[in-house]
Amino acid sequence: MPLKNYSLIINKALILVSWLLLLSYPSSLLAKGNCPQNRQTPTAPGNFLNMVNPLPFNEKSFKSGEKLYLEQAKPIACIFCHGVKGNGEGDPDFESTPPARNFSCAQTMKQLPDGQLFWIIRNGSPNTSMFAFSNFSDDQIWQLIHYIRQFSK
Ligand code: HEC
Repeated sequence: MPLKNYSLIINKALILVSWLLLLSYPSSLLAKGNCPQNRQTPTAPGNFLNMVNPLPFNEKSFKSGEKLYLEQAKPIACIFCHGVKGNGEGDPDFESTPPARNFSCAQTMKQLPDGQLFWIIRNGSPNTSMFAFSNFSDDQIWQLIHYIRQFSK
């Protein structure tokens, strides 16, 4: 067999092997919204950790939270970083290290008290792209918390 044919066969075999490797690679490892997430966010002070969402979960609070999350939050709405599914996969332009919190991961979210979420939304998480939304009223933050918790329900 001419040498050219051998290299053609080897080439095809290599392509096949790379495809097999790619297909067998678990998609969970490729996904950015992994769960549980490696989380190094500072812990809120004790008086915050004891806070419980004072707003009733109803259509009004949920819808208000949804509007803030999807479009109204200034200067950048939550959806751009946390994604439409809340899994931390937003607009590729806003990808960061550490990645945005995956709100759809129940394992991570159920460990986080309402007051922890409140504290980070108001003050931000230092040295990450999660900046402080200091212009929100308390009620707006609680509405957002109702909204982001539904991603893991
Ligand atoms: C520019 C990107 C960006 C935007 C916009 C953004 N976040 Fe985040 N958010 C992050 C990142 C990155 C983290 C992870 C921070 C960390 O690991 O400490 C995070 C973490 C969080 C956390 C997790 C707190 C914790 O203790 O684990 C909450 C809650 C949160 N964001 C809520 C929001 C809400 C609500 C909005 C919209 C009002 C929002 N974020 C907008 C990037 C963003």
